[in-house]
Amino acid sequence: MSANNNLHVITHPLVQHKLTLMRKKEASTNSFRRLLNELSMLMAYEVTRDMPTQAIEIETPLEKMTAQVIDGKKLVFASILRAGNGILEGVLSVVPGARVGHIGLYRDPKTLVAVEYYFKMPSEMEERDIIVVDPMLATGNSAAAAIDRLKELKPKSIKFMCLLAAPEGVATLQKAHPDVPIYTAAVDRELSDHGYILPGLGDAGDRIFGTK
Ligand code: URA
Repeated sequence: MSANNNLHVITHPLVQHKLTLMRKKEASTNSFRRLLNELSMLMAYEVTRDMPTQAIEIETPLEKMTAQVIDGKKLVFASILRAGNGILEGVLSVVPGARVGHIGLYRDPKTLVAVEYYFKMPSEMEERDIIVVDPMLATGNSAAAAIDRLKELKPKSIKFMCLLAAPEGVATLQKAHPDVPIYTAAVDRELSDHGYILPGLGDAGDRIFGTK
């Protein structure tokens, strides 16, 4: 993994291999979704690397010992609708006790401001660590708006996890929230005039859900 300025690019060969397969235009909905699950699992491994553990007493078949466990229930995956939901299955398979929140935002066509239409989080957010998930960090506006809203709940920590980022999106999010680490599998060349990441992988929501 390479990291600077709170930007962590997960360069592990398995992650890069699966991302390349997902980018291919001929990947079917089925294989895109399966690869996204696998990639989300592998990325969760890096994103949760500094998760706190606590010591508990257990007994092996041979003797008693003190061993480390995580408190998965303290973790919240906050999905930015709708494409963020494509990441949930993979991350929950490695942290099954985690809670899940959803944030729905749309861009007002006149003002281009992100407007919230849905927001549902678990209770007691002050005790929780949040990992915001969205496959594409494109303009960065919805990620920044989602994190603005989550910060109102005063969680212990917030991280942002995506598959692909545009340099413009990284800059916007880092300017708005320099304290939030970004985890991605790649930072692509640029954002197109239509807000697509180039070379990218197309519309993540359409490819996950088979809509078009
Ligand atoms: N959202 C997508 O799904 N794809 C992009 O390239 C940019 C934003």
